Formats: sequence, C-alpha cells, structure tokens
Amino acid sequence: MELIHGKTALITGASSGIGRAFALEIASQGGSLILTARSEDKLQELARQIRRQYNVSVTVIPADLAKPGAANELMDAVYAAKLQVDLLVNNAGVGKWTDFLDEPLGSYEAMITLNITSLMALTYLVLPQMLASGQGGIINVASTGAFQPCPYIATYCATKAFVLSFSEALHGEYQHRGIRITALCPGNTDTGFQAEAQANTDGMRADSPETVARQGLKALTQNRSYTIVGTDNYAQALLPRLLPRKTVINIVASMMSRKIKKATLQPA
Ligand SMILES: NC(=O)c1ccc[n+]([C@@H]2O[C@H](COP(=O)([O-])OP(=O)(O)OC[C@H]3O[C@@H](n4cnc5c(N)ncnc54)[C@H](OP(=O)(O)O)[C@@H]3O)[C@@H](O)[C@H]2O)c1
Repeated sequence: MELIHGKTALITGASSGIGRAFALEIASQGGSLILTARSEDKLQELARQIRRQYNVSVTVIPADLAKPGAANELMDAVYAAKLQVDLLVNNAGVGKWTDFLDEPLGSYEAMITLNITSLMALTYLVLPQMLASGQGGIINVASTGAFQPCPYIATYCATKAFVLSFSEALHGEYQHRGIRITALCPGNTDTGFQAEAQANTDGMRADSPETVARQGLKALTQNRSYTIVGTDNYAQALLPRLLPRKTVINIVASMMSRKIKKATLQPA
C-alpha cells in the first residue's frame, strides 16, 4: 500500500519541531500537504520552502486546536478546498512541568482539548473517507511519558497515555480494513517544546525532530501499533511493566521533584 507518494497528508502542529520535520520528510517522499497550527506566517514560510524544493501541493489552514469545535472547523475548511486526507499526522501538543496547582485550570483544559479532544475528533472525521477509499494512515504523536504516571507532569502524561491507548485500540479495530494507525512515542526531542513546557531536561539525551518523524513514518509503513524512539527510551518505557506501580510513581516523583525545584531556582 502506498501511504505517502502521490497522497495528501494533514499535519497538525506543522509550524515547528516534529510537525515541521514530518512536513519536509513527507514532501521529500512525494506527498502533498495540508499544514495547520496557529502561526500562519511560519506555515506560509514552510509552504513556500517546500513548493520551491519539491513538486508537491501545499495548503495552509491555520487553526487553534485548543478551542472546542476547532477540529470540525478545520475539516470543513479541508473539504471546502476539495482536499482529501490520506494520511493524518496528529502531532500538535503542549505540556507543562510544574507543581500541579501552579498552573491555571484553564491551561490544563486547553491542553486536554488540544492533546486529546482535537486529536480524537480529527481521527473520527477523517476515518470515514479513508474507509471509503480502502486505505489510509494515522500517526498520533504520544510520548514516552505515556507509559507511566508522571508526578509534576501529571496532566500532560495522562493526555499522552490517552493518545497511546486510543491509538493502539483503533489499530486493533481498523488494521484489517486497510487503515494503519500508529502511536509515535518520542522521548526528549530537540524542539521548542521544552521552553513552552518549562521542562528542565539538563543532562538528558535528545533526538532530532527529523529522526522522530522518519521513525514515525517507518513504523506506519510497517503497520506497527506503536513505536518508541531510541533504545534507551524503549528500555525506560519497559520498566513500569517490571516494577510495582507504586515503586514507579515514587521513582518518577523523586526524579521530577528535583528537576522542578532546580527549574524554579534558575533565573528566568
Ligand atoms: N519535544 C519533545 O521532547 C517531545 C517528546 C515527546 C512527545 N512530544 C510531542 O511531540 C509533539 C510535537 O511537539 P514538538 O516537540 O515538535 O514541540 P513544538 O516545536 O513546540 O511544536 C508544537 C506544535 O504544536 C502547535 N500547537 C501548539 N498549540 C497549538 C494550538 N493551540 N493549536 C494548534 N497547534 C498548536 C505549535 O504551533 P503554533 O504555536 O504555531 O500553534 C507547534 O507547531 C507534541 O504532541 C509533543 O507532546 C515532544
């Protein structure tokens, strides 16, 4: 099944980091693009670069997917432009490393709408057309944080646990109907995410967004239900299967509490 060449991919969070790397990689393999994020200027600049470099069509549709109903509006715009989505990359997401109560409730609500509700809604809205054409692919970007509860990143990791569970479940439901669904689980990746999340990743190895995007596409091609980027991250994600849940919580809490305190002591 050809998943990329001659097909059209809708990529959320395409204005930077992993989403941008997906856009460039898919275009280099002959896939056309629908790019979305809030930063229209960055999307238009990327679209110009891709049109110059590759012989593919690129459409920009800005959207704030942290707003309720935004996924429906985005898909209305896609269909109004007479475009079909053959490959969906649900990549847009935000996180926050903090004491749970140090972040306003509205920020968590927006995170959940972006990381969960819009991802689920876009999946719901593209699947019927994929089923009608007998093929399609969906990559949902989760995280290694999906494999265990993460004190001090509680809401973010819980959203990613949803993404992993949801994607694996739909993989099981649709794998025999021509649709490939993969959860992509990166570990620490060198993007703008850490600054936004106030994540103190001192001393942690980081993958490049290009490596992450390539591994996601490879896993989809191989029809894997999930993939973890990096053997070290893979080993770490296995730990919760081997240790009692309470032990895992205590290990992560002790590690993260030091990181949060250290982050608080750093000058802004
Ligand atoms: N970097 C890591 O270490 C890491 C590790 C594991 C998983 N991940 C996951 O990887 C995915 C991509 O993140 P990244 O690392 O590439 O970070 P990034 O460079 O900060 O990119 C995040 C993307 O999401 C978009 N976005 C943020 N808020 C949005 C909103 N309200 N509506 C629509 N788009 C929005 C941003 O665009 P605009 O600001 O223009 O809207 C941007 O394009 C996320 O789901 C993240 O959870 C990252």
